[in-house]
Amino acid sequence: KRVAILISGGGSNMLRLVEDMTGDHPARPVLVASNDPAAGGLDKAAAKGIATAAVDHREFPRDRAGFEAALLKPLLAAEPDIICLAGFMRILTPGFVTRFSGRMLNIHPSLLPKYQGLDTHARALAAGDAEAGATVHEVTPELDSGPILGQVRVPVLPGDTPQALAARVLEQEHRLYPAVLRRFAAGNRTPLIL
Ligand code: GRF
Repeated sequence: KRVAILISGGGSNMLRLVEDMTGDHPARPVLVASNDPAAGGLDKAAAKGIATAAVDHREFPRDRAGFEAALLKPLLAAEPDIICLAGFMRILTPGFVTRFSGRMLNIHPSLLPKYQGLDTHARALAAGDAEAGATVHEVTPELDSGPILGQVRVPVLPGDTPQALAARVLEQEHRLYPAVLRRFAAGNRTPLIL
């Protein structure tokens, strides 16, 4: 299976996915693309010999369809079987999402269906939750709402700041996403609860 990974920043999740796709893994990374040409993850991918592409969304103000049309060019050229959103911070239109229906994954830093959208850790702390975590789900047109493919929980600790909680969750994202992609690429969609 050919995997394309979309990032917006440092790409720590992308890196773990790439590092796991070796040996008898049913998938290989074929492209890492970003909406930000300065995304640090692009250099990390290039250093691993993976093709990269960047389409600056700021060149398409108020033109989401134009940005996506530009992004689709390198994306379709890579002929991906699976697309992984990994720290990708742009909302994709239903038209784009349905093109890859059933084969686009995302990792979201909350225990979905709780805390769809942004600032998930601050919201969990404000609510006084005892636990937080991350979810890998299939991407559907409704934001952060597709079928859950994997979930991992972490404790909220006394005195936690959003940053401290984010770091604890991110560490578990790095375990969860590769494990879910392995199964998904092998055709197994049963949810993985770590
Ligand atoms: C992190 O906040 C992570 O929780 C979310 O995207 C952000 C950046 O991730 N999935 P990455 O380091 O770019 O993979």
